[in-house]
Amino acid sequence: MERLQKVIAQAGIASRRKAELLITAGQVQVNGRTVTELGTKVSERDEISVNGIPVGKECPVYFLLYKPVGVISSVIDDRSRTTVVDFFKQVPQRIFPVGRLDYDTSGAILMTNDGELANRLMHPRFKIDKTYIARVNPIPTSEQLRQLASGIKLEDGMTAEAKVRLISNDSGKGIASVQLTIHEGRNRQVRRMFSALHLHVRKLKRERYGFLSLEGLHPGDSRVLKPHEVRTLYHLANRDQS
Ligand code: URA
Repeated sequence: MERLQKVIAQAGIASRRKAELLITAGQVQVNGRTVTELGTKVSERDEISVNGIPVGKECPVYFLLYKPVGVISSVIDDRSRTTVVDFFKQVPQRIFPVGRLDYDTSGAILMTNDGELANRLMHPRFKIDKTYIARVNPIPTSEQLRQLASGIKLEDGMTAEAKVRLISNDSGKGIASVQLTIHEGRNRQVRRMFSALHLHVRKLKRERYGFLSLEGLHPGDSRVLKPHEVRTLYHLANRDQS
């Protein structure tokens, strides 16, 4: 027997938190009867539906997408722009991105229908490293690099310690490439960190999500995660794979 909100999250319908809201709002039925209690346990044999639509027992799928610039990291866009889900038209499962990259950021984004795992990976407690390459101008000083590493004061608080490396610089053009690894996932965090130091981000790419890199992929390409990679994600999220 599993908790109802967990089954809904695992089916990729919503995060566990949103599944709880669906239940308390009276939008979930078990064997045709509306259930509003969060503690409700269900078994394989129970017929669960959300707003009357049966929750299929989808098998979990996991992909890594190299998101190009100019793509929205959500399932639908109210302005009909291309979303990350549009790259998976051949995938029957209802997949969604784990976290977000800005419209103007490219790079590695995990796509899955495993709401439970996605929720955990996005939770700050699990501190998943995300590595970015930023093209910035002017060229950061060593003091600015040190500040990026030790923490920057943003309007939503200090940033956590980060790993920072100056990869290259072009003194003629006054542009540098900086590699920055953070484990937080605040909105537009990398851009805001540089901006707080009066450094302008001209290009931003996420080259790694945890241990997953873009190796072998071009913008718009995706690949299925290997079983050992899925196992490692479960391990990072401190969860049994069942
Ligand atoms: N930080 C940003 O500023 N943008 C992203 O897309 C990701 C992290």
